[in-house]
Amino acid sequence: MLIALGVTGGIGAYKAVEVARGLQKRGHEVVAVMTHSATRFVGPATFEAITRRRVITDQFEAGMNADIEHIALASTVDLLLIAPATANIIGKLANGIADDFLSTLYTATRAPVLIAPAMNTQMFEHEAVRKNLDTLAARGARFVAPGEGYLACGWIGKGRLAEPDAIVAAAEAILRPDGPLRGQRVLVTAGPTFEDFDPVRFIGNRSSGRMGYALAAEAARRGADVTLVTGPTALEPPAVREVVKVRGAAEMHRAVMLRAGDMHVVVMAAAVADYAPLECAGQKLPKDGDTLTLVLRKTPDILGDLGHRRVSKGGGPLLVGFAAETENVVAHATAKRENKQADFIVANDVSRSDAGFDVDMNAVTIVGAAGAESLPLQPKSRVAEEILDRVEKLLAARPAEARHGSG
Ligand code: C5P
Repeated sequence: MLIALGVTGGIGAYKAVEVARGLQKRGHEVVAVMTHSATRFVGPATFEAITRRRVITDQFEAGMNADIEHIALASTVDLLLIAPATANIIGKLANGIADDFLSTLYTATRAPVLIAPAMNTQMFEHEAVRKNLDTLAARGARFVAPGEGYLACGWIGKGRLAEPDAIVAAAEAILRPDGPLRGQRVLVTAGPTFEDFDPVRFIGNRSSGRMGYALAAEAARRGADVTLVTGPTALEPPAVREVVKVRGAAEMHRAVMLRAGDMHVVVMAAAVADYAPLECAGQKLPKDGDTLTLVLRKTPDILGDLGHRRVSKGGGPLLVGFAAETENVVAHATAKRENKQADFIVANDVSRSDAGFDVDMNAVTIVGAAGAESLPLQPKSRVAEEILDRVEKLLAARPAEARHGSG
């Protein structure tokens, strides 16, 4: 995952080098963002050598604003970690002051924020600093508490930057929380697909992506390494290992097939188009006739292909499919489970206006090997929990090599 490591001007800045190294050892990419005063303690070249990336030291460096870098970085980082965080940066973040790259990045990102304060004991205990820390905590920021010990200013007390190992562990706990799905690679598809038939028009559907996004977020909360393959949606993606944005069914098929071999679980919550225009015109289609005929061709059945690959090759990920039905919900879902060789199918009646497509609630029937089980109308986040409870049970019943194998 990509971590923005904010380094501010405290004596503990040298320890941030160890933090960067520790994060990289665990497979993360680190981009260092140094405040001006941090560069007085440690040279940017040190971070550059360790992270093998350009170190950001200035909002107004030449070339910095060509792609509005703080916004570009804000939307791609999985975690903003500030270590050490001085009283000054804590004050700025708490109060929305954005006068340099790091403070601007904080206001621009929606990634989780982890702060490791470091300052003199008196400063740390000052009412203004405490208030700012409380404000940040209430906003969801998390902290690695400073340690007690000998401080650079000669005091003995609380305020010394936490040890790099503790900071790395805290970052890992946010990025890869411990949980029942820890170590499991889970791919979730979400959203509709858009099937273009000219440069400005497409055939789509009313899926909002909420069910798939809720599943991806819940699987990540349970510690899984989550890949979200998403069709076009207006939703903010959850913090997961990888988000792959696709448009049409064929592109989604490629994205899923490429990754499925490495997965322990694939949940196909996307409302994939069943048919797509045979051709996409190079130019906008003119409005010449009273009618317009589009020839559609069946799209590749992603779940079906995964199911059949599993049958022919053996092994393969646990497969969960969805079925959006308007009638005979259980019968259709049961047939779908057989046809696609899925472990279970989550069926919803999309003719209901209070559940299913484009609303926050869902009432589903889960059709598995043992039959059908209807769940009450509940938020999609709860439905995601129910689905993953069943995934966990099925995983536990699988042979150990399928659960822990390299895929
Ligand atoms: O066949 P039907 O579209 O009703 O099946 C729905 C399930 O199959 C969903 O899980 C959906 O994500 C998946 N699907 C697919 N590829 C398609 C169409 C649907 O994987 N082309």
